[in-house]
Amino acid sequence: MPLFVRPGNGIKREISSMPGNYQFSVDTLVEEVKEIATLGIPGVILFGIPDSKDELGTEAYADDGIIQKAIRAIKKNVSDILVITDVCMCEYTNHGHCGYIKKDKKTGEYQIDNDETLKLLSKEALSHAEAGVDIVAPSDMMDGRVGAIREILDQNGYENIPIMSYAAKYASAFYGPFRDAAESPPSFGDRRSYQMDTPNSEEAIREVSLDIDEGADIVMVKPALPYLDIIRLIKDQFGYPVAAYNVSGEYSMVKAAHEKGWLDEKTVAMEILMGIKRAGADIILTYWAKDAARWLT
Ligand code: PBG
Repeated sequence: MPLFVRPGNGIKREISSMPGNYQFSVDTLVEEVKEIATLGIPGVILFGIPDSKDELGTEAYADDGIIQKAIRAIKKNVSDILVITDVCMCEYTNHGHCGYIKKDKKTGEYQIDNDETLKLLSKEALSHAEAGVDIVAPSDMMDGRVGAIREILDQNGYENIPIMSYAAKYASAFYGPFRDAAESPPSFGDRRSYQMDTPNSEEAIREVSLDIDEGADIVMVKPALPYLDIIRLIKDQFGYPVAAYNVSGEYSMVKAAHEKGWLDEKTVAMEILMGIKRAGADIILTYWAKDAARWLT
């Protein structure tokens, strides 16, 4: 179950484009996670909305950053739940890109600096580990980040923390509502220089294979619905644990249609989740997790 956490107290603010999902403050988040654990959902993945954003996304790797606080609070108060964190810079940078940006000397255009970004992501992953996270999930799509994160975790005694890599992450319009929820739309340009191109399936194989070589323990395909073939391809080709992210847009469009009375959310959602499972996913990240857990009992 993906969850959004922001600074403050007593906050449970519904995300307008994702009905039934909220931005929580740490205290209300802990209550939510307790309920999620009771429902038998095995894990949560946390996304942070920081107090302040800057060029280097400093709060992403601050010891008292929002995610670090949330991990500590959950670990202290809830047992029997796996805490996963999204490792990325986009929620923390003032430009909203997933990495460090620099100006190209020749063209004057801004570009992502892949290798500088690796340093920031490594620091972020390490700070999550120090706060007590169970699994880190890098979602930025920079080359070499799984290896860099594996190395820094191992060097610091966290060799047992697994990496769930967003390995085949497509540049998708289905992330629209999430960017609302995480307050992280890019302020200029788009993410096509680091996320994958929709028609390309061979690149998914290359990306997954690189991530496995660098030490990924679970590989993710994202989004799920328009990429069911990729889930099946990766499962068959690698025989590795595959996660599928049933993303915000896939959820919100069904919610909206349900609200209009055009289809029935429950049956449609279960059909979607079943399709993702049938395609070969071992793990599904979905905003329907709580609903599905209730529907299944
Ligand atoms: C990046 C990240 C995104 C999502 C998960 N991690 C947004 C993006 O890449 O633009 C999208 C999830 C969703 O749409 O539900 N930190």
